[in-house]
Amino acid sequence: MTKFIALIPAAGSGSRMGNALPKQYLTLGNHPMIYYAIKTLSSNANIAKVFVVLSPEDQDWDHYDWHEFSAKLIVLNCGGATRAESVCNGLLAMQQNNAVDTQDWILVHDAARPCLTTLQLDKLIEEVCEDPVGGLLAVPAADTLKRGDAKHRIVRTESRENIWQAQTPQMFRHELLVKALQQTEGKMITDEASAIEAMGLSPKLVISDSYNFKVTYPQDLALAELIIYKRSIA
Ligand code: C5P
Repeated sequence: MTKFIALIPAAGSGSRMGNALPKQYLTLGNHPMIYYAIKTLSSNANIAKVFVVLSPEDQDWDHYDWHEFSAKLIVLNCGGATRAESVCNGLLAMQQNNAVDTQDWILVHDAARPCLTTLQLDKLIEEVCEDPVGGLLAVPAADTLKRGDAKHRIVRTESRENIWQAQTPQMFRHELLVKALQQTEGKMITDEASAIEAMGLSPKLVISDSYNFKVTYPQDLALAELIIYKRSIA
């Protein structure tokens, strides 16, 4: 039977947060940020395993207690120089460990999206599991879009019609995703869907919402904290 396997690339340094501690370990509520992605993914009955890809130089993972996830959580210390490299290394490592079949679905989710909900995750799985290509959570662009120049002057206003902001999880079959990432190696690929698109395929956009934002700048952390807190008292 086809399995659903989560892969969390967590080998980034999070330099845009301006903090020495990689952002996946910044404290949110009572836990490091990555805890929330692991919790949502591992508590989903459809997900068989949750792989976390750490940097080989990671110094922080072992400072925390991950016991509550031991039934599903597997840690790989094979992160690379880019997100795409970390994901690809993780996919190859799970294959070497015979933990995956070629047609299994892989759900790649950023460690820095702590506010993913079970509802969003279920919707993605339901809408993509019969799809021949795969798909991802995304939101239609809400703001007016400006193209700027190097001096921060507007060049023109871009149409936002049919423009979406890609989120994660991004869900593709193992074999296809490995092939796509290997073919785009060395190119500027910031998500899995871009690699699949480069093969001439069109992943499915599954409507999500802005709660599933990526923590990138310091103010994002404060917002995530509010959301997590509100959920904890609901
Ligand atoms: O830096 P950014 O926010 O784009 O990172 C998105 C996700 O990719 C994070 O979970 C980060 O830890 C991960 N990443 C990685 N390996 C890298 C760079 C980023 O696993 N070399």
